[in-house]
Amino acid sequence: MKKVVIATVLVACAAALWIFVFAAEPAKVVVKSAPAIVALSNLDTQSGLADYMSLPMPLGLKGDPAKGGAFFMSNCFTCHGVNGDGNGPRAYFITPQPRNFLLETSRQKLNRPVLFEAITNGRLGTNMPAWGKVLNNQEIADVAEFVFQHFINAPQVNTPGNTPAQ
Ligand code: HEC
Repeated sequence: MKKVVIATVLVACAAALWIFVFAAEPAKVVVKSAPAIVALSNLDTQSGLADYMSLPMPLGLKGDPAKGGAFFMSNCFTCHGVNGDGNGPRAYFITPQPRNFLLETSRQKLNRPVLFEAITNGRLGTNMPAWGKVLNNQEIADVAEFVFQHFINAPQVNTPGNTPAQ
């Protein structure tokens, strides 16, 4: 009888140990991802923002801005405008309107991974289509690279008429 009790206690201890180990695992993961969170919350510093804005395309892709530019000028300009200022011929008719890619707020948010994701999945609740349904990953990287180089990362222009609502 005593043996059974000891065995039961041992099994209970082993189980408790396992639960402890598994329960401890997520805590370790949180600790590991802490530096990434710090890096993102560091965007108010110039070097933090520069690091964030120089992140590469996902999936090891490298976009070709020339190919992407040709696609933009036949498929995206109608809403986003040839200058990326959100004043394309269709923009007037849709709500919400496309944002101005040239504004400071766009320059602090739309890095390559964000552009890639937005173009792939579209923007729910807006007229922005999910291009992942018609383009492959390389084609999305091409047009994302074009947007990044020609609008987001372009030299700042502050001409009148370049500051629509958003
Ligand atoms: C029918 C109009 C329309 C077309 C065509 C269109 N967009 Fe959009 N797009 C929008 C709207 C509206 C939004 C949501 C408002 C915003 O964030 O600019 C949007 C959002 C975006 C965003 C996300 C901006 C953000 O802040 O999250 C990106 C990037 C973008 N579009 C790129 C493109 C590219 C590249 C193409 C062509 C492949 C394209 N769009 C075609 C209307 C359009």
